[in-house]
Amino acid sequence: MRIPSPLKEEAPVPQVSRRSFLQAGGGTALASVLPGRHFVLAQQPVPPSVPAGNPVRFASIGLGIQGSSLLRAAMSMPQAQCVAVADLYDGRHTLAREIAGAGTRTTRSYHELLDDRTIECVIVAVPDHAHRQVTVDALAAGKDVYCEKPMSHSIADGQAMVQAVTDSRHFVQVGSQRVSSALFLKAQSLFREGAVGDLLQVELQLGRNSPGGAWQYPIPPDLSAQTLDWAAWQGAVPKRPFDPVAFSRWRCFRAYGTGMAGDLMVHLLSGMQCITGINAAPDQAHSIGGIRRWKDGRDMPDVQTTTFSYGEVPVSIRLSQGTETPEVTRILGSKGVLEVSGSAVSLSPQSGVDTSPDYGLNGWPAAMHAEYERQWHAEHDPELTAHVANETTVWHGQSWDDLHPHLQNFFSSVRTRTPPVEDVVFGHHAATACHMANASYFEGKVVRSNSKGGERA
Ligand SMILES: NC(=O)c1ccc[n+]([C@@H]2O[C@H](COP(=O)([O-])OP(=O)(O)OC[C@H]3O[C@@H](n4cnc5c(N)ncnc54)[C@H](O)[C@@H]3O)[C@@H](O)[C@H]2O)c1
Repeated sequence: MRIPSPLKEEAPVPQVSRRSFLQAGGGTALASVLPGRHFVLAQQPVPPSVPAGNPVRFASIGLGIQGSSLLRAAMSMPQAQCVAVADLYDGRHTLAREIAGAGTRTTRSYHELLDDRTIECVIVAVPDHAHRQVTVDALAAGKDVYCEKPMSHSIADGQAMVQAVTDSRHFVQVGSQRVSSALFLKAQSLFREGAVGDLLQVELQLGRNSPGGAWQYPIPPDLSAQTLDWAAWQGAVPKRPFDPVAFSRWRCFRAYGTGMAGDLMVHLLSGMQCITGINAAPDQAHSIGGIRRWKDGRDMPDVQTTTFSYGEVPVSIRLSQGTETPEVTRILGSKGVLEVSGSAVSLSPQSGVDTSPDYGLNGWPAAMHAEYERQWHAEHDPELTAHVANETTVWHGQSWDDLHPHLQNFFSSVRTRTPPVEDVVFGHHAATACHMANASYFEGKVVRSNSKGGERA
């Protein structure tokens, strides 16, 4: 995977004491309040520019919560031009014209747009269960695809999508924008420099505690079987009567969504893959949890704790919709702890040596103890005195919701035919881990992948 290092000079900021930072209303992230050396990260990376007067012509497929955010972002980019929007719900056609202009072409049929040879690429922001079909169709029609995360709704879907890219001359960029975050790229460069030494463990976490955070999204008042093509929306999922709750809150249901794994975990795993260079599915997953807080008819857990093994590296992930906690990516190694949280990256180095005679001496008689201590100090004190203090360094950056650079990278790749920052294989690996976690949760057992990465044994 190619990830350019975009960081420019970093500016030091004055030392911030824990107390003064809290009084100033500093962020909730642990790194934000750590004493130590503080720096401000440079602006977001700017990808190679597209030749002037030659914008990339794109269409949006799916214009709900995320599709509309992506379209708004794209409208601010001179290197891209929205040609048309497809969505199955007519309310989103109105929204498309509000965002992209009154003359914007809209349709319920994305196939109509794939037939338009002047459209070079598509942004696919449909619910998870529809990613495979729309993406495979778009690739077959000769379009590059920006496909939202989680890339797939099942391991088999992901494999089909990887194959579809292989069979085409086009690419997929997956929409986990952490990999385009200046924070994660800073953490990546620190990791590559060996700042944490040997990679030993990874801890990831995120918690919410509100109806919105639990996906209880409002249902549009005009939504009906007349304003929505409900049959097409269900795609290959077994058909059922019109269900406005499923349309608006599909994340709650396994038939359409991927639960907290596909909504939250996939971001955390993509960030981990970006920092550590792990580009593989885990070897095994074990996930437990349940529906503890939001007993609203959903079938996806709202509390979920998962452990993975990636080769020799254990990765643990705590997700919750019952207790709010910050998003944290913590990389633990033999030389210390690297952490991304809130709007900061912190590095807390550890020397890994004893700084005083060993605790085990407490069990020795006094004379033996004293003689050992004397010798220990004679041997170690010169080195310890010369040793640099284990001071934490914090880089403060912008929000890690780096949708703009991620989308810019996509348009740039379309124009320059260079690989995108988050390709189909990277996305397949991250999504596969989520599917393994869910399979373990539902089946109540450890799930293992085979050597091809992804098929459960
Ligand atoms: N990267 C991020 O931070 C982020 C944030 C939110 C959502 N997402 C992802 O974006 C995707 C969409 O999520 P959302 O919250 O916007 O969902 P949404 O329900 O708000 O919008 C999805 C839209 O897709 C349309 N649609 C469904 N099938 C279609 C088809 N075959 N043809 C045309 N339109 C179709 C629906 O009518 C709907 O308007 C999901 O995969 C989700 O996981 C990513």
